Amino acid sequence: MALTHLRVVLLAAAILRLLFLSSTDAGEVGVCYGMVADDLMDPSSVVKLLKQNNITMVRIYDTNSTVLRALANTNIKVMVALSNEDMTSGIGRDQNSAQQWVNTNVAPYYKQDVLINGVTIGNEVFKQSPDLTGMLVPAMRYVQEALKTANLANVIKVSTPVAFDALKDQSFPPSVGEFKDNIPQSVMNQIIDFLEETDSYFLINLYPFYAYANPSTHISREYATFGINGGQLDKGSGITYHSLFDAELDTVYYAIDKVSRSGSSVTTSMAQQHRNIKVIVLETGHPSDFHSHSIATLADVDANPVATKANAQAYNNGLIRRLLSGGQRDVSAYIFSLFNENLKIGSPIERNFGAFYPDGTKVYEIDFVDGGSACPSKATWCVARMDVGDARLQAAMDWACKNGADCSAIQHGNACYKPNTLVSHASYAFNDYYQRMGQTSGNCDFSGAASIVDRPSPNICDPNPSWCVANAAVGDARLQAALDYACGTCADCSQIQRGAWCFDPDTKIAHATYAFNDYYQRVARRLETAYSHQTTKAEMNKLNSSLKTER
Ligand SMILES: *[C@@H]1O[C@H](CO)[C@@H](O)[C@H](O)[C@H]1NC(C)=O
Ligand SMILES: *[C@@H]1O[C@H](CO)[C@@H](O)[C@H](O)[C@H]1NC(C)=O
Ligand SMILES: *[C@@H]1O[C@H](CO)[C@@H](O)[C@H](O)[C@H]1NC(C)=O
Repeated sequence: MALTHLRVVLLAAAILRLLFLSSTDAGEVGVCYGMVADDLMDPSSVVKLLKQNNITMVRIYDTNSTVLRALANTNIKVMVALSNEDMTSGIGRDQNSAQQWVNTNVAPYYKQDVLINGVTIGNEVFKQSPDLTGMLVPAMRYVQEALKTANLANVIKVSTPVAFDALKDQSFPPSVGEFKDNIPQSVMNQIIDFLEETDSYFLINLYPFYAYANPSTHISREYATFGINGGQLDKGSGITYHSLFDAELDTVYYAIDKVSRSGSSVTTSMAQQHRNIKVIVLETGHPSDFHSHSIATLADVDANPVATKANAQAYNNGLIRRLLSGGQRDVSAYIFSLFNENLKIGSPIERNFGAFYPDGTKVYEIDFVDGGSACPSKATWCVARMDVGDARLQAAMDWACKNGADCSAIQHGNACYKPNTLVSHASYAFNDYYQRMGQTSGNCDFSGAASIVDRPSPNICDPNPSWCVANAAVGDARLQAALDYACGTCADCSQIQRGAWCFDPDTKIAHATYAFNDYYQRVARRLETAYSHQTTKAEMNKLNSSLKTER
């Protein structure tokens, strides 16, 4: 019996399935409607777009009246902002100005059925406007008081967005999470006290993308974009994280717990106190493009290979699945950003965080309802065509073997030498090349000598053949859950339906084996060839085996 990381894949699949079943409303997905652009569709069209995409929460960076009016009577929740500019101009310096601001910019809209659910005070003040630090907590308290006077304090929460770079160790492990020394302790503990007191949320802007884009971190694509991976163990807490997002989120929780209560003696068991505060991720996202002609900083160079549509799509859909299905912690988050914003300054990647172009067309497929399928939906293979003749096949095979395909397995004496036919050898080489190139259609042509098929071809030899069988010992309930997951995602279970070829023997174990193996052949083996990240043996051994593979 040879155990492979497939066990992990299927177990993770089964766990995902359980999560989907057990918690429907774990978190909610919102979007950041930034408007630093001169080419965006008008607010009422934007509201249509939000509705078409089933988006239920939006965050704006001001209290723009056109936007707020367009959001009336839509059931879309709105987080509004008292911006850094507002604060600079004096709003929130005293109770009167705060009251006036609430009476003009918040209360009237709420009364016209705009579902305002929060007000952010300033934006990343510690990072963007440290000069405003001193007035931050007073402004939060004035606005809170003003909302109370307007009878809105129960429904509209007050908080302030903090950038992830307020934390000391931004990578790993989460249990060492702590706010930086240059963030005034007295301000941070007043903020946390205020949030606890008013039952509000800590708002963090976090972008796993930046750590992932930094080559020195060696973070895998799967870990950074909610793919299947072996996880990272935090030795301090014993918790294994399967996404950088979750690790960063927990870093914030650990940091909050280390903030002492104001007035309490700073030194006593700081690590032990637990703050009763929920975190909302107010911004997170992944850029889809990068313009190499406008490289501005070294960080831009690093970003180049990871700021792609495929990665942005994987991150944002993975995020949506993560939020809706729950996880180590239930959390809601706002995706930054709704649109690509052409007037954002700084690095060119800043202008490419949008899920939509300014005219409302999608930059990539994104599914706000459920994040789409967790499995790679279009596993494909590349096989040789028999009808093109030996000369063309031979020439194309030689080219593939010279240009990236690993053809060692089809050499004399090796695992895929037999059957020793040109079409088998060529199929092997073409497919190896195609998988390495990430299954993009232009990479299965070979001057017309090959074509793409949507299931494994018998012509493509597998040098390490393995199958997946169900393990009866785990019991029917777990088998059924995993079976449902496999059939509900990538496995083709038509042949185990009543009356079909593989219905008999009609046992749970036989049907589960069929489904698991189909899933495995379509998904797991494709992952093995298409991605480089492998689960470590130690990690695998830690996981409970509900399934096993046999050779
Ligand atoms: C999503 O929105 C569309 C269009 O408004 C609607 O027809 C559909 O029922 C919604 N789906 C869900 C799951 O809410
Ligand atoms: C509000 O948004 C609209 C549409 O984007 C824009 O034309 C207008 O200038 C904005 N108003 C203010 C006060 O910023
Ligand atoms: C996983 O394995 C551990 C240790 O062997 C055991 O205590 C635990 O109950 C198992 N969990 C499940 C879900 O089987």
